[in-house]
Amino acid sequence: MELLQQYQAAAAYIQARCAAEGKADYAPQIGIVLGSGLAGLADRIEDPVIIPYADIPHFASSTAPGHKSRLLVGILGGKCVVAMQGRFHYYEGYTMDKVTFPIRCMHFLGVKRLFVSNAAGGVNPKFKVGDLMIIQDHINLLPNPLIGKNIPELGPRFCDMTFVYSKDLIRRVEALSKILNIPLQKGVYVAGSGPSYETIAEYRYFATIGADAVGMSTTPEVIVARHCGMEIFGMSVISNQAVSFDDDYKNDEQDVIDAAAKASGNMSTIITELLKTL
Ligand code: HPA
Repeated sequence: MELLQQYQAAAAYIQARCAAEGKADYAPQIGIVLGSGLAGLADRIEDPVIIPYADIPHFASSTAPGHKSRLLVGILGGKCVVAMQGRFHYYEGYTMDKVTFPIRCMHFLGVKRLFVSNAAGGVNPKFKVGDLMIIQDHINLLPNPLIGKNIPELGPRFCDMTFVYSKDLIRRVEALSKILNIPLQKGVYVAGSGPSYETIAEYRYFATIGADAVGMSTTPEVIVARHCGMEIFGMSVISNQAVSFDDDYKNDEQDVIDAAAKASGNMSTIITELLKTL
């Protein structure tokens, strides 16, 4: 089956599942991707229809630690949303088509805005563990997910990526940060493949090329979302400082998840309040 038909089949299945649970009126216009340790936002979604990825035709299933593998359709901040509790990563061995499949499926559900989140290492020396960073721009060091035959029904062959993170949504969140008294950083996210964490020299390199935070996800989803015309907002939780290292320092996957989980309450509040303004 062509990819385009696969996206449509998956979207039709999700709509049918909602209808089967008495929620035929659910028509999400906002998609949310929840990264490592950040799945807690899903608990705030009201009246959710919960669909394990394994049930959805052509979906992969997430193997990453700290990730559940299910889609929720429900109400958040008064808006109908579709949220991924757990995403697919390139380092899991999935093709970019599989990594970005859910985003294009969201497009066929009618999603016009995408909110993405992740845990990231802070290479900006001003950042502390637990800080939230608005993603202002990104550097994609993963293979570009648009490589291959273009699907003109989705978007153009050569896709504009300037101001990919919506200036309007960033302004709204900055205003909310003052009202809610939740301090926010702002910066550039760089995505590497992982799954190994960076060497100290690599962290320094990322800072040198203009990054503030580094992770292993997000840019593929953002690129395909832009390609099909979505408005995008992204936020990183700084889960580890990647600037100076004690002699016995080690990056540990559980520490990263725990640090992200601690900051997830504030991130959830910001996303929920942002939705209310739309
Ligand atoms: N590097 C890459 N990915 C990450 C990191 C990191 O330091 N922290 C959380 N995700």
